[in-house]
Amino acid sequence: MKLAQTEYSQRRQQLMSQMEANSIAIVPTAVETVRNRDVEHPFRQDSDFYYLSGFAEANACLVLIPGREQGEYIVFCNPKDPALEIWTGRRAGPEGVAKEFYADEAYPIEAIDSVLPELIEGKARVYSVMGANSQFDTQLNHWLNQVKAMVRKGAQVPHEFSALDHLLHEMRLIKSPAEIEIMQKAADISAAAHCRAMQVAKPGCFEYQLEAEILHEFTREGSRWPAYPSIVGGGDNACILHYTNNDMLIADGGLILIDAGCELDYYAADITRTFPVSGKFGPEQKALYELVLKAQLAAIEQVKPGNSWNAGHEAAVKVLVTGLVELGLLSGDIEQLIKDESYKVFYMHRTGHWLGMDVHDVGEYRVDKEWRPLEVGMALTVEPGLYIAPDCEDVDERWRGIGIRIEDDVVVTEGGCHILSHKVPKTVAEIEALMGKQNG
Ligand code: GLY
Ligand code: MN
Ligand code: MN
Repeated sequence: MKLAQTEYSQRRQQLMSQMEANSIAIVPTAVETVRNRDVEHPFRQDSDFYYLSGFAEANACLVLIPGREQGEYIVFCNPKDPALEIWTGRRAGPEGVAKEFYADEAYPIEAIDSVLPELIEGKARVYSVMGANSQFDTQLNHWLNQVKAMVRKGAQVPHEFSALDHLLHEMRLIKSPAEIEIMQKAADISAAAHCRAMQVAKPGCFEYQLEAEILHEFTREGSRWPAYPSIVGGGDNACILHYTNNDMLIADGGLILIDAGCELDYYAADITRTFPVSGKFGPEQKALYELVLKAQLAAIEQVKPGNSWNAGHEAAVKVLVTGLVELGLLSGDIEQLIKDESYKVFYMHRTGHWLGMDVHDVGEYRVDKEWRPLEVGMALTVEPGLYIAPDCEDVDERWRGIGIRIEDDVVVTEGGCHILSHKVPKTVAEIEALMGKQNG
């Protein structure tokens, strides 16, 4: 499942229409990194680069020059090299990039030091993503110095530099119907993976065995990678927010927290479910689970156009604190507990983040210092949780070591929101039914 090339063309046009007159934008690819000795980490294209090109090869650079007569979209990339391609795989080469990826001009990457300074010369402003890729920052300085060296011959050096991030990331924040379709598919695959893990989990299995079930389902359905390392935490490992060791045995009686989502054509899903390894929630587990679920539903209720980004978090915190007081895990005045953030010992993260090509996607959360209002097409997660540390002496022993998070992916619609991850059950009854032990 892939976006059409026309969508990438539209994005480039939209970006160029927002750039100042007489300007140039330069976007590098991600950098290949060594894992150990001759082994590299799997290459994953930079999201900004891919968003504008759909081109997944490393060692390339794309350039946009609005209004340039000879062509506005220029790409530098690895040249064709049949001998090397036998070892390292197919390359599009400049001709392929022009034909398949609609570049107006394409050059071998080796030509960049001679061609790019000429393209920069005479422009008033350079747009780039600064500070993210030090290798690129060094190269950009080098190209600018090359232009400066030609000043006495009449060359004009750009004197304004703008972060491309703002323009580009505001575009990425609002998802098109085609992007939402892919995100829906990513969520469907991830939902099926969560269901599969719930169905095969049993006391005595290892966390990595459930991770294997998740990855199997992702790959079987066409996703080549998880969007982030899967978290499979049995028992009190669920209280470690970014637990990825996934190497322990899951003892009977505990909960399992799985936070896993696949990546599909560069779009992430990010889903968390928590369920009992035995197939049936114990009384404390159920009480806390239902509290987190109530908070999650209250937060989802707040996801609608015009509502503040923070409304969901505030609603979730209110429900959680009220419930924690009712259950005796916190004591005091609810408003005061919220104000002094005493709940943070049990709920220390926020209720969500933007979701898209990056699992923690780009886009500002505040505009002019205020939490921004939600708009149709924004995609986000809603993921409250409660984590009662195993050594928390402030609460009765029966609550200790319980970690719960419930995370869904939602997209803002005219009427409120659509839950992309709705296919994975989340009520106690639904989970127990799926695990086949409803009356067990
Ligand atoms: N999986 C990371 C997160 O939920 O934000
Ligand atoms: Mn997550
Ligand atoms: Mn998340």
